[in-house]
Amino acid sequence: MEADISRILIPRETIARRVRELAGEIASTYGDEASGLLLVPILSGSLIFTADLMRELPFVMRIAVLSVSSYRGASTQGGTPNIVQDLKLDIRGRHVLVVDDILDTGNTLRMVMGKLAERGPASLRMCVLLRKKDKAPSDLKADFVGFDIDDVFVVGYGLDYNDQYRNWPEIAVLKPELYQ
Ligand code: IMP
Ligand code: MG
Repeated sequence: MEADISRILIPRETIARRVRELAGEIASTYGDEASGLLLVPILSGSLIFTADLMRELPFVMRIAVLSVSSYRGASTQGGTPNIVQDLKLDIRGRHVLVVDDILDTGNTLRMVMGKLAERGPASLRMCVLLRKKDKAPSDLKADFVGFDIDDVFVVGYGLDYNDQYRNWPEIAVLKPELYQ
């Protein structure tokens, strides 16, 4: 796997430090409402981020996963996002925090946030590890952002290319010849 990596964009220690800070921002934003929090990670990209983030949250909370597919396959271009596995729980009246790996075109989060908003949550916020700052649409505001990055296709720490490289522990860029 290491032979496929061209450069490390964000090293492990930097990710870990920022994830701890994000947990602090989340805890202070929710305050007394934190213990009613329902974390909604979007699979599969936010798997590792969520695992680290939730262990830094110092209050009782729940988690319910949502699986979305955008049919990217071996492409680095976004497709039309679809919910492939919905929540198994009613979010009406709950404080919901959607967690995703990256805000790129925003198509995925726009669809997810729209669908969840219709279900009457007490509050609905979103947290992303990465945001492509020049691409993310200005009308789709992420409440918590780990890092703003340039428009490069990254892998690792949960992010994939063609469903691979999620287990690379840092945020990295692949060698250009590997991207089709
Ligand atoms: P969006 O709908 O264009 O915002 O893209 C959302 C999804 O596309 C993310 O949840 C990722 O799964 C995937 N994606 C977007 N950019 C990247 C990237 O640079 N690396 C890996 N996956 C990406
Ligand atoms: Mg993906």
